[in-house]
Amino acid sequence: MSKNKSEQIVQNSKPTTRNSKLESLDQFKSWAKENGFIYASSEIYGGFSAVYDYGHYGILLKNNIQKLWEKSMTQMRDDVYLLDSGIFMHPKTWQASGHAAGFADVLVEDKETHIRYRADHLVEEWFEKKGEKVDMDKKTPEELAEIIKENDIKSPEGNELTEPRSFNLMLKTNMGTTDNTLTDENVVYARAETCQGIYLEYKNYMDTIRLKLPFGIAQVGKAFRNEIVARQFVFRTREFEQMELQYFHKPENKDELFEMWKEERMKWHIEELGIDPEKLRFKKHEKLVFYASQAFDIEYDFNTLGGFKELEGIHDRGDYDLTQHAEFSGQKLDYFDQENNTRIVPHIMETSVGLNRILMMVLEDAWTEEEVKPAEGDKPAETRVVLKIKKELAPIKVAILPLSKKEPLQKLATELQAEIRNDFMTVYDETASIGKRYRRQDEIGTPYCITIDFDSLEDKAVTIRERDSMEQVRIKIDEVKAWLDSKF
Ligand code: GAP
Repeated sequence: MSKNKSEQIVQNSKPTTRNSKLESLDQFKSWAKENGFIYASSEIYGGFSAVYDYGHYGILLKNNIQKLWEKSMTQMRDDVYLLDSGIFMHPKTWQASGHAAGFADVLVEDKETHIRYRADHLVEEWFEKKGEKVDMDKKTPEELAEIIKENDIKSPEGNELTEPRSFNLMLKTNMGTTDNTLTDENVVYARAETCQGIYLEYKNYMDTIRLKLPFGIAQVGKAFRNEIVARQFVFRTREFEQMELQYFHKPENKDELFEMWKEERMKWHIEELGIDPEKLRFKKHEKLVFYASQAFDIEYDFNTLGGFKELEGIHDRGDYDLTQHAEFSGQKLDYFDQENNTRIVPHIMETSVGLNRILMMVLEDAWTEEEVKPAEGDKPAETRVVLKIKKELAPIKVAILPLSKKEPLQKLATELQAEIRNDFMTVYDETASIGKRYRRQDEIGTPYCITIDFDSLEDKAVTIRERDSMEQVRIKIDEVKAWLDSKF
């Protein structure tokens, strides 16, 4: 910690070695629950598969991640605008996008246990166990059936599998009727991706804000998919949040734009979220959907998921989306290019990332168990779990911890909290020993703990402890606010 005028270092227990990281999804789930980040949905009814609820600290963290994404897209740029469109859209949207007919995964079922698996994942894992790496992405049910037969692939329990079949991932409901019958006329879909809302509003943005290419529309919101297998905590759930940017542009300089967005997005994960760059990589899509000309994923090396997994997609979608919606809606969605005196259908570059997946990565990347050597005497080293999260992301920025529940300390502590809480998310805690209170805050990633002790009544100063170094400094109370300002 840097020193200011009244600051003096007081005492320091020291973290020694970086011991370990989260090792399994079960460990991750229990830790996230115990610390108020994430709960399994409907627990009192025995749970509800692949849906999770976010607790107080989970929401604060999620909001901070979202804010950083929106800031990078809008405050730091001049060409991107925000949107919040409806979860329900005209059903023709999903015919135009191709989801109604073709948004499907291939499913197989264990004939004995009736557990369902994504056929592509099952086959990939089967080959992986034999030390071979194969990519089954976008294989048809027929192709997968042949591979399963040829290699005599069984379920993980060793049982026969059913024939692979396609399973549409869209969630259906009905709207605007008096009975509950699903009919073709009133069926609506819960959106499977947020970007479709952007395509439907493109014309309004063009007409009302009078935008010139290139420009982007960015949206954060819920998406819903009837995932076949969802046993990966918040990595793959049936209800999740996406943060998507659709960048409308002329096709001429698409390669440069694609590189720019690849670079921007990787930089965001490293610089804004503070993720270990060694654990991030690009993965090129070898097989592309027919309308796309380039696609890369950003992947993170999840310890708890056994390796690199997709976080974000960066896709060059060509003019497919606006062409489709123009055809299905009968509206003109083209653009008059004044420079070339011609009408064109804008092309689209997409960056699409799951907010819940990012939150999972941020937690896993920051979670550290380490040994702490006490400052005095021969006391044995202790273990602590500390969330070494970037300060800007921390759910709580400052914890106020009076050393005693006695009135004069309480008064001083609450006065200090009142002075800083308008600018910083704070928590007041006067329960348990100071050691236990520090550990609690370390575990949820609180960067600064302020202790108010009996000396504070005399010297009008408090002790501030920094989370990672555990270094403690003594600061005059009337300088605390400015000191904190300098740290954020
Ligand atoms: N508009 C393009 C699109 O939706 P996608 O690859 O299907 O592309 C984009 O999804 C991102 O959304 C993924 O990279 C992932 O971060 C997130 N995502 C997709 N399905 C998810 C699920 N079932 N649970 C959590 N996040 C998911």
